[in-house]
Amino acid sequence: MTYEYILTREEGRVGVVQLNRPKALNALNKALMVELMDAMEAYDANADIGCMLVTGSAKAFAAGADIKEMANATPVDMLNNPFIDQWDRLSKISKPVVAAVSGYALGGGCELAMACDMIVASESAKFGQPEINLGIIPGAGGTQRMTLAVGKAVALDMILNGRFLSAQEAQQFGLVNRVYPNESYLEDALAFAGEIAERAPVALRLAKEAVNAVFEMPLQAGLNHERKLFYMLFSTADQKEGMDAFVNKRKADWKGH
Ligand code: CAA
Repeated sequence: MTYEYILTREEGRVGVVQLNRPKALNALNKALMVELMDAMEAYDANADIGCMLVTGSAKAFAAGADIKEMANATPVDMLNNPFIDQWDRLSKISKPVVAAVSGYALGGGCELAMACDMIVASESAKFGQPEINLGIIPGAGGTQRMTLAVGKAVALDMILNGRFLSAQEAQQFGLVNRVYPNESYLEDALAFAGEIAERAPVALRLAKEAVNAVFEMPLQAGLNHERKLFYMLFSTADQKEGMDAFVNKRKADWKGH
């Protein structure tokens, strides 16, 4: 499949999607977001892929929604534009998704990274929700996901005051999993995603589902849900394989079912 605004490649069991609109610092227009989600849904359906990595360039993961595309929009134009709906498609991806962020992750770019399951960053990464400077607020999850990730005090500092977080601050506040050197961040991110991609596929999928249930369910409902997913895994060949491999001191050979 050929795309206009993204590049895709497979590195072992990692499906890599790279945003590729360098002249606009990977500003997210509707066409790019649709391509991104088409590619990710294709990887989600591909049994040879265990994990996805979404990345941009060294200078910009993505500098936000395309301001030029929406500058003259009316509310009804925005309502009829399926742009923000693409984030809902991302939240339905069942395999783990890692965002590898270098440079700017601003506005919709930061919201895209946060809609992934984990974020790894280069030392140069900058996270921000600077929509206030445009006379708007975040619209693709920034007020919700940022507050859940870093807490109200830091989130409001970013959203009301346009504060950027450095990679180190983002890690300290719980937004980012790992910070890697600028020179090696992409290989390091691929290694990080590669380790996840090699794990038992059904368990990975249900583990992601169980963790995300925290954001949707009261505690007892979440605990009950987790227990059912846990029991269900005892129907998989991979549970038998994983436990047999442990008992016999050998490496597990996952079947994917
Ligand atoms: N939309 C459209 N074009 C953008 C863009 C964006 N979000 N961000 C950068 N660009 C374009 C610039 O217009 C410029 O294009 P031209 O060369 O054609 O003029 C090119 O990318 C390079 O940008 P700069 O010259 O500004 O580069 P810089 O290094 O001086 O500054 C920057 C980099 C600080 C990221 C600056 O570009 C910037 O502030 N960008 C906007 C960030 C922003 O406000 N993002 C939020 C968007 S709204 C949103 O995302 C809503 C939502 O929640 C869904």
